Amino acid sequence: MSFLARKTVLLTGATGGIGSEVARQLSAAGARLILTGRSATKLEALQRQLAVETLVYCCDLTVTAEQHGLLQFCQQQGGIDVLINNAGISQFSLCQQQQFSELISINLLVPMQLCQLFLPMLRQRKGQIVNVGSAFGSIGHPGFTGYCATKFGLRGFTEALQRELAGSDIQVKYFAPRATETSINSSDVVQLNQQLGNTVDSPVWVAEQLIKQLESGDLRRFLGWPERIFIRLNGIFPALVDMALKSKLTLIELFAAGKNH
Ligand SMILES: NC(=O)c1ccc[n+]([C@@H]2O[C@H](COP(=O)([O-])OP(=O)(O)OC[C@H]3O[C@@H](n4cnc5c(N)ncnc54)[C@H](OP(=O)(O)O)[C@@H]3O)[C@@H](O)[C@H]2O)c1
Repeated sequence: MSFLARKTVLLTGATGGIGSEVARQLSAAGARLILTGRSATKLEALQRQLAVETLVYCCDLTVTAEQHGLLQFCQQQGGIDVLINNAGISQFSLCQQQQFSELISINLLVPMQLCQLFLPMLRQRKGQIVNVGSAFGSIGHPGFTGYCATKFGLRGFTEALQRELAGSDIQVKYFAPRATETSINSSDVVQLNQQLGNTVDSPVWVAEQLIKQLESGDLRRFLGWPERIFIRLNGIFPALVDMALKSKLTLIELFAAGKNH
């Protein structure tokens, strides 16, 4: 029987491309789900496709009162065993055009706050936390200054929390997809990926990898080659990655400024 059978999983960003696929696969594995998103219509449509035990909670996670409402709802349902912080947004533009506040709020502050709020409950249940980061949480990429900052931050937070809880029964994991085919990527990003020859994964495959990580003891999972090599190289010889990205800068700037249309 899968580790996930009979576990209760709270999944944020369940209505998105990766989230909805993770929800389908978790449900098929026998998990009881509490799904969140901001659109009741999308949540209910997803709920209808899944096992009867699936519950939905519609909320904007950047609002503190709504986070507390979610905690209370989960308490009323008997608690959770797994928290998957998957909700996120992206922004592709040059630094001067970026709006940082919302990015920082949903991509970084919200997962940190949800970890804090749900820790007591997860302690009781020997639970797991999975924070969904990105390859851009290890590689600073032109056009994604704000997004990279949030995902670098989330990776650091996850590692620190995991080490802080090393003596406990809670596991804290970091999951880093590379480009994935979902609507988080604007048409400019899709075209840029095509021009750069970047591989784009399917949400089905990405969700499979997340579930494998949940079932394993792996604390960190980075998806895809050559991204994994690039991440290692960036850690050891960042000047090499500086050069590689500089050679692509003109193209990236063109797309980031929206001048490719
Ligand atoms: N797709 C990629 O290329 C890629 C690559 C690496 C990492 N990731 C990461 O994977 C995760 C999922 O991304 P995705 O591609 O599935 O994106 P997506 O399709 O755009 O879905 C994003 C999800 O986040 C939710 N969300 C956004 N703001 C929210 C808020 N304020 N309160 C509550 N929920 C909110 C959305 O809910 P609504 O229905 O309310 O909008 C939606 O369910 C993100 O953390 C992303 O950074 C994605």
